[in-house]
Amino acid sequence: MTRLSRRDLLRAGVGGAGLITVGSATACAPDYVPPSNGSAFSLGVVSGLHAPDAVVLWTRLDPALAAGRTEVGWQIATDASMTNVVRSGRASADPSRDHTIKVLADGLRPDRSYWYRFDLDGNPSPTGRARTVPLPDASVSSLRLATASCQSWGQGWYHAWAGIAADDVDAVLWLGDYIYESVTPGPLAVRNDPIGTATTVEQYWAKYRLYRSDPNLQAGHAAHPLVPIWDDHEFVNDCNRHANEAFPNRAQAAYRAWFDYMPVWPIDGTRIYRSIRWGDLAVIAMLDGRQYRDHPANGFAGVGVEPLIGIGDVVAESNLEGRSMLGQAQRGWLIDTIDEAHDRGVRWKLLGNQLMMTPTRAIDLDDPALRRVFPDLARHDGLYINMDSWNSYLWERQYLLDHWHDRRIPGITVLTGDIHSFWTASQRVDLEDRFSPVVAREYVTGSVSSTTPNILGTDEFASFMEQGPINWTPQFDYVNFRDHGYGLVDVSRDRLEVRYRTTRARERYFGVYDNVRFTDNFGRNS
Ligand SMILES: [Fe+2]
Repeated sequence: MTRLSRRDLLRAGVGGAGLITVGSATACAPDYVPPSNGSAFSLGVVSGLHAPDAVVLWTRLDPALAAGRTEVGWQIATDASMTNVVRSGRASADPSRDHTIKVLADGLRPDRSYWYRFDLDGNPSPTGRARTVPLPDASVSSLRLATASCQSWGQGWYHAWAGIAADDVDAVLWLGDYIYESVTPGPLAVRNDPIGTATTVEQYWAKYRLYRSDPNLQAGHAAHPLVPIWDDHEFVNDCNRHANEAFPNRAQAAYRAWFDYMPVWPIDGTRIYRSIRWGDLAVIAMLDGRQYRDHPANGFAGVGVEPLIGIGDVVAESNLEGRSMLGQAQRGWLIDTIDEAHDRGVRWKLLGNQLMMTPTRAIDLDDPALRRVFPDLARHDGLYINMDSWNSYLWERQYLLDHWHDRRIPGITVLTGDIHSFWTASQRVDLEDRFSPVVAREYVTGSVSSTTPNILGTDEFASFMEQGPINWTPQFDYVNFRDHGYGLVDVSRDRLEVRYRTTRARERYFGVYDNVRFTDNFGRNS
């Protein structure tokens, strides 16, 4: 079945993975084996940011190259050449987890890099860098992060990961769409995805094996710890809590594969939202905007109606008290996490967030002159584009902003992915007043490789598309519909600086370049 995704207008155009949805499982190849890199650890190594005294280490033992062996050794050292080993142990590759291996290595010292590797009978894996986080009450002066999302295998090459590998960052925040459960139609693909549409755990595993076989991605993971969350395509396009209820087996398969392949601890389960304190400098709250969310606002049409754009009744429904993207439990946790950090004097509050939080309203109907003539206009009425985002959850968004504004909490910065394009905006407490106080800044990174909205591929078309959002209410500071890439976030006590590093993923060979740079001064977000 092929249908137009609700997000195509903004996100993917005719080249988007959103075009293909559930049910086109034809050319499945769950036994796909990626090309060998000459090691039994053919998918490389990944570490996860975890705690002041512990890191998560990940690898996979390729059964075709391990001659029946399942047990491996692991070592952690204080130097990249692995001479000063401080921790070591043994671990097993579990066939019921697709031969993946995860280790929670503890007893480490806070706020420093370690290097690690696995070995099979003395034959080592590539060496990777792990990192412990600072103690919660430590005085810390810097944090550097890369933010990245959306890496459709078929739609582009991973030049962005080569850039990330060469950057000096503490960790990579992965903001969703690590794999795509669907497949890019042949003529639009620059690489072949032989797996087809994934619906079983074997097929989801095969997607992770395919994506992890990329040498640039492996280099990026070896260089830096990962802090991942999922978006929709790790399961199914545009999913929400109703999809979990409608396809429980598929949801379980998708979540299980994610936990098997991501360097997170616990090893399995369904909860991915969590926070990481970076001393007194920052807290990083990683959100799950998918599995608990209500269906998108659709003008009270019920479950299953998913409009691309919204106006009138759709906006009225989005404003309904209690409608939620995060779910009540996660919303309470987020409020508590940010409040507590603020109360303890933590400077920056970073949100790792899947979907754009700043409304994308192309036509503003909540205008004083119009409201005088039409007093029944929905609050914040207008023409919204992309109802998969926070556009469908305006009540909850306003609830959060009002709370943070009432408490005068400075330094809230939302780091977002999803939309395959770069955006920068200030989120003001009053959506209609472009001079009202700024509560949060939002930085949306473009995609690593997934198709941009520049569907014609010309600079003229991109320029035409980029003109709109600069003049919308709320307005955007910056929009880039033409490049792929990632964000670099450089946090110090008094400043937060974001650079967008861009590339062209459809080109087989392309560099990564600094594009624009934004600076926020702490406590002066206006
Ligand atoms: Fe995506």
